[in-house]
Amino acid sequence: MSKKFETKAIRDQLERSQYLEHSSPLYLTSSFVFEDDEDMRAAFAEEKDRNIYSRFTNPNTSEFISKVCAMEGAAAGVAYATGMGAVFGTFAALLKSGDHIVSARSVFGSTHSLFTKFLPQWNITTSYFDVSQPETAAAAIQPNTKIIYAETPTNPGVDLIDLEALGALAKKHQLILVIDNCFATPYLQQPIKYGADLVIHSATKLMDGQGRVLGGVTVGNKDLIRTLYLFARNTGSAMSPFNAWVLSKSLETLAVRVEKHCENALQLATALEQHPKINWVKYPFLSSHPQYNIAKKQMLKGGNIISFELVGGLQKGKQFLNAIRMCSLSSNLGDTRTIVTHPASTTHSKLEPEDRLAVGITDGLIRLSVGLEHVDDIKEDLFNALEAL
Ligand SMILES: Cc1ncc(COP(=O)(O)O)c(C=O)c1O
Repeated sequence: MSKKFETKAIRDQLERSQYLEHSSPLYLTSSFVFEDDEDMRAAFAEEKDRNIYSRFTNPNTSEFISKVCAMEGAAAGVAYATGMGAVFGTFAALLKSGDHIVSARSVFGSTHSLFTKFLPQWNITTSYFDVSQPETAAAAIQPNTKIIYAETPTNPGVDLIDLEALGALAKKHQLILVIDNCFATPYLQQPIKYGADLVIHSATKLMDGQGRVLGGVTVGNKDLIRTLYLFARNTGSAMSPFNAWVLSKSLETLAVRVEKHCENALQLATALEQHPKINWVKYPFLSSHPQYNIAKKQMLKGGNIISFELVGGLQKGKQFLNAIRMCSLSSNLGDTRTIVTHPASTTHSKLEPEDRLAVGITDGLIRLSVGLEHVDDIKEDLFNALEAL
């Protein structure tokens, strides 16, 4: 019997030890022991499925990876210390000097720095396509292109990219399609269904969901994952067993948490859309979202991120942050606590206004990571802050 998402997230767990524990224990150990010389030889020759050293594998990281694979419909995976560890580990393992990436223009800031500052040091270059014009992705493909990369929904613009179209494009040109699925989580969207070869997550976000630990994971095609695994094993970006243990427990409640995040977010997005001090609200499951049809096609619900534009631009954005009383001013997202950010005066303040606009960040743009507090309390805080403007 093929089990449902929630059941897999809970029941896919480590084999019980001799203590017959109900919940998986924490294996906080850097290495593992062997019976004898032959046992050790066979383990190193990979003739036996054995843990050797926790930089390579650890029962807790294996449990976490196996849960994510079950959720994403992936054959194999690698866990990393952070989401950026996963992003870097994926590109660095697959690319060599002279290779080229085609990426959506709107990507997470550190991923953008990787493309513009660090990968060029190894002669790996990137061309960008416009999220609102995915047909420009085809035009950006060169003879040396190896990877197509995108995040959907995007950060912080909450734009969507048609995964089916990207999947078809990657297949046509025999390119590796890598999708950062961090904003949607595997509960809402499974890119492998549309042809993604690899799916990346910052587990720091909704996977943990409680703002406690950092983590990253890449799952997907078995052969590609083998290359990623060997790179990770030799370069030292392993997830800590403790974080893997925390994250495995978190995944058991991912479905119920994300359901509630989405319910709160849709109610707030609908209410904010009516407010006279807001120009527009972008949330995938609002029918006013320009790509509502794509959202309905590839996402189960709209997620927990809303973006909206305040009337009055930069100054009002700063005033709005100062008028917030309960929600947090923090750079994280996907937490139980609602988080408000104003990208133009904070995360993206170093960009020229026209560069900000190119990735959809207007001066009055606010990004809301909707938490799990009672929706009435979140609404009261946001609406009081709007009244103060
Ligand atoms: C879409 C996306 N990808 C990757 C990352 C990087 O994750 P981490 O902070 O765990 O390294 C983030 C972090 O915010 C993100 O939002």
